[in-house]
Amino acid sequence: MALGLLSLLSPFAMDAVSSASTEATPTLAPTLAPGLTPTVTPDVIASASNVALPPWLATLFDKVDYFIMVPLVYVAIQFCIVFLIIRMLKIFRAPPAPFTLQIFPSRKRPAGAALADTFAMPQIRKHQPLFWVFLMVFHVSFLLLILGHLDILPRISLVPEASRDMLGAGLVGVGVTVPLLYFLFRRFRTPNREISVYADYLLLILVIFLCLFGDLMSWGNSWTQYGFVMTKADFSQYFASLAHFTFQDPRTWLTGTHYHFAVIHVLLAETFFFVLPFSKIVHSFLSLPINLLRRK
Ligand code: HEM
Repeated sequence: MALGLLSLLSPFAMDAVSSASTEATPTLAPTLAPGLTPTVTPDVIASASNVALPPWLATLFDKVDYFIMVPLVYVAIQFCIVFLIIRMLKIFRAPPAPFTLQIFPSRKRPAGAALADTFAMPQIRKHQPLFWVFLMVFHVSFLLLILGHLDILPRISLVPEASRDMLGAGLVGVGVTVPLLYFLFRRFRTPNREISVYADYLLLILVIFLCLFGDLMSWGNSWTQYGFVMTKADFSQYFASLAHFTFQDPRTWLTGTHYHFAVIHVLLAETFFFVLPFSKIVHSFLSLPINLLRRK
């Protein structure tokens, strides 16, 4: 993590640190588009380096990076699943509300009406059309984002394996990040400001930074000439190793300075998984059952 922050300040220096700290660390080897020649070679990087960490500190940073990228991923995901289940059980076991939640006039097809309430959000569309547009873009993009992450797994090839692009070639990242910024800024305005608590702002800021670090990688790969040092194919080996519980050091495949962006992205994702069961986002799991209850 500390290495990650350092890398933001001095990318060249960071590569020197990484390679000094891990013998097995491969040299920076960006995958260039066909016909392009690299301008930043390992020699250039070595000569530009000006930070040399004591070996014990470099080893410590490597261990922290490994902990974030491998064991903590499993811990965070399991924690999230267990506490989501506990929270759901508590909610479903709670005594029924002493008043009716039903919406009148009742509809002929309550299940269809509940689905429409949940996914089309007609009340919001009527009263806050701009908010509704951002909500729709966000939710559709978020589903595509989940697909995009799954697509990094080997053998799922919605986007061809050899492509540098994530699903949507960076546009999915725009589709989640821009609405999130809107959701944050609308909280600063009356009347949302008065009903917002610190946790609302903190959660949005966490998710915005989480997405921005993902965007850095995906936009770098899709929208820049040389791309990101690590491509979808490299991430695919990391995801496969996580899926098969090999506990291999991701540094085997994820080379160069940009690794620290991935580490920060994963750390923020883990923080998100730890916070999720206790956050307002749980509404998304409950909105369909609640709407069913109100329409029955
Ligand atoms: C442990 C869990 C996660 C891992 C290992 C992970 C890993 C990655 C990687 C490697 C990329 C870049 C892929 C590429 O450029 O080919 C990426 C992109 C991205 N990630 Fe994650 N991620 C995780 C969880 C999350 C979560 C929970 C969110 C948001 C709630 C998120 C949001 C994003 C975004 C917005 C992008 C850019 C998408 C685009 O521009 O199309 N990630 N992620």
